[in-house]
Amino acid sequence: MTAPILRRLSDLRALTESWQAEGARIAVVPTMGALHAGHLSLVAAAREGAERVIVTIFVNPRQFDNPDDLAKYPRTETSDAEKLAPLDVDAIYAPDPDQIYPEGFSTTVSVAGVSAGLCGAHRPGHFDGVATVVSKLLLQTQARRAFFGEKDYQQLMVVRRLVRDLDIPVEIIGCPTVRESDGLALSSRNQRLSPAMRAKAPALFGALDAAAGAITAGVPVAAALEEARNAVLAGGYSAVEYLELRSAATLAPLAAPVEPARLLAAAYLDGVRLIDNVPV
Ligand code: PAF
Repeated sequence: MTAPILRRLSDLRALTESWQAEGARIAVVPTMGALHAGHLSLVAAAREGAERVIVTIFVNPRQFDNPDDLAKYPRTETSDAEKLAPLDVDAIYAPDPDQIYPEGFSTTVSVAGVSAGLCGAHRPGHFDGVATVVSKLLLQTQARRAFFGEKDYQQLMVVRRLVRDLDIPVEIIGCPTVRESDGLALSSRNQRLSPAMRAKAPALFGALDAAAGAITAGVPVAAALEEARNAVLAGGYSAVEYLELRSAATLAPLAAPVEPARLLAAAYLDGVRLIDNVPV
């Protein structure tokens, strides 16, 4: 059944208050739409432990540091709603922009520490935009559990930190990255790859996977990272923005592997910026 699409916070509130009166637990999956199997896996996970599931769809202008990227972001609400129909979602919250950023909106949620470096260093203001909109969506939906993909690993860490710091009563669940059969992490941006570029795209995961194996086998971290950067470029990417080993718990930079660690990278393929990460 197709879920109702709500545009106004007052309509969402009426619904969530009625659900809470019944004692229902609410789970939320925040998205920017252009849904793929990765998002649908989050919805399936959300469905398991909650009586009511809300999927939010909002292309958040405040997290785009590049206007061209915002303009090109795919907007596919009708097909998104069709994809959600078999998953028994209770409501789609696709707020009008003024429901998130009303006239005179002047608050920014800024998370220090985990948002420094990696994407934070290359996308000024990005994580402030993410933290601000996620805070609003968690409070608006009154969710007790919220689901995020590990593909955006730094984002997941930012969200975990913000709910801890602000005492937002929600459990943040990180779900594994969903990949194509050739290893490419699912991403809405993959739609922008030409067939030739799509064929080259798995080189990013391939390089990270090989580097994780090398580091585990005792290859010095600096050498493994250098080898991985070269492999990404040799695979057809035009630039590696970052490729780093970090603590999986704090995102502190690591010169040697500790348990648990994470390799994270961002690279450009024909002007499309792709990110990925793997555990070490
Ligand atoms: O990961 C995303 O799609 C977005 O960053 C999120 C969490 C929905 C916030 O706009």
